[in-house]
Formats: sequence, structure tokens, C-alpha cells
Amino acid sequence: MRGRFITLEGGEGAGKSSNLEHIHQHLSAAGKSVIRTREPGGTPLGEQLRALLLDRSQGAMADDTELLLMFAARAQHLAELINPALARGEWVLCDRFTDATYAYQGGGRGIEPERIRLLEQWVQRELRPDLTLLLDLPVEQGLQRAGARSDPDRFEQEQAEFFQRVRAAYHERAGQEPERFRIIDASRPLAEVQAQIDQVLDTYLAGMN
Ligand SMILES: Nc1ncnc2c1ncn2[C@@H]1O[C@H](COP(=O)(O)OP(=O)(O)O)[C@@H](O)[C@H]1O
Ligand SMILES: [Mg+2]
Repeated sequence: MRGRFITLEGGEGAGKSSNLEHIHQHLSAAGKSVIRTREPGGTPLGEQLRALLLDRSQGAMADDTELLLMFAARAQHLAELINPALARGEWVLCDRFTDATYAYQGGGRGIEPERIRLLEQWVQRELRPDLTLLLDLPVEQGLQRAGARSDPDRFEQEQAEFFQRVRAAYHERAGQEPERFRIIDASRPLAEVQAQIDQVLDTYLAGMN
């Protein structure tokens, strides 16, 4: 049986990386074989594209270049890792996926969603995440948490308004596909965030039987 594709989304400092291991353990305990990965990246070539995308000295990168590099990394990720794993029956847990493209390149940079949709269709064909956990919190709070990071990357150096548009685009996506999205209140202490995540996963797993 084909595995399930679960994505973790949210703005800077929402706690995606912090909760990935927790989700992995929860699914493993439920007997699932899980591969953990991230975007942009997840493959050797994809990680090189990630480095380009995050490099602050790439100041002149055009919005469309950024969009196409994201989808180039995604195409490699799908071909090399995600699609084969799902076909083998493994579950794939991914830190960011195409919703992040709608949020950052769409909401943040202002690229029309219709143009992103063309690339999504082209690169992914029928593949969409089965379940998406959106870690949501006020922009200021997320930036404060992420602010601990000493060396901001090309996205992290954006202004708060950019991240407000990112958050609004995530909310719009979640509103359009309520059956796929689960919104987690990520402003809460970590233990409470994990309790919310546990509940979502248990409900999802129970619904599969
Ligand atoms: N619920 C939480 N409460 C307080 N701090 C948190 C919480 N979740 C994560 N953090 C901290 O916030 C920072 C950013 O978390 P991280 O998981 O790296 O976010 P993301 O991957 O979404 O950018 C880290 O220092 C992390 O320890
Ligand atoms: Mg992270």
C-alpha cells in the first residue's frame, strides 16, 4: 500500500524543526516506516539549490528565478526520494512543501498563485500532501524565536510585512483545503504544541482504519 505524505508548514520560528522528531516518533510508534526530509533540499542536488536560495549574497535573484529553483529542487526531491518512498509504502514527513511556495513566493514575493499552480501541476502531476500541519503563530512571536539565530538567511532577513503576507497566504491555503490542513496553535509552550500534534495524528491514524 502506498505510504502517506505529511507536510509541516509555518513561518519563521513556528517550531517546524523542533516538532519534526516528535512527529516522527509518534508515527513510528504507530508502526509506520517514516522518512524525514525537508524543502528546499532533501537530496544532494536539492541541498545545493537550497544553499543558493538561502545565500544572502544572491541579492539580485529575480522572483521567478527563486520560484523556478524551488520547483527544480522539488522535481529532484520527488524523483529521487518522495515518490519512490511512497511507492514502497513508506511515510514521508517533510519540513515545508508547496504550500510554502504559495506562502513565500506567492504571498511574500507577490507572484500570482495561478502561475505557481501551473508549476505545481507540471512538477507534481497528481501528487499532493495527504495531511498538512500548519504551525501558526503571530509573526512577531515567530521572529522573536527565530531571532536567536545568529546568521539570518536570505528569507529571514525580510521585513515583518513580508512575513505577515506569508502568514495570510498560509491561512488562505488552509481555508481553501480544510480537509487537508490542521492548524496548530504554535504560540503555546512546546509541550502543549506537541499535545495538539498528538491529537491530530491520533485522529488521522484512527480515520485510516
Ligand atoms: N512552542 C515553543 N515555545 C517556545 N519556543 C519554541 C517553541 N517551539 C520552538 N521553539 C524555539 O523557537 C526556535 C525556532 O524553532 P524552530 O523549530 O527552529 O522553528 P522553525 O523550524 O519553524 O523555523 C528554536 O529556538 C526553538 O527551540
Ligand atoms: Mg526549521
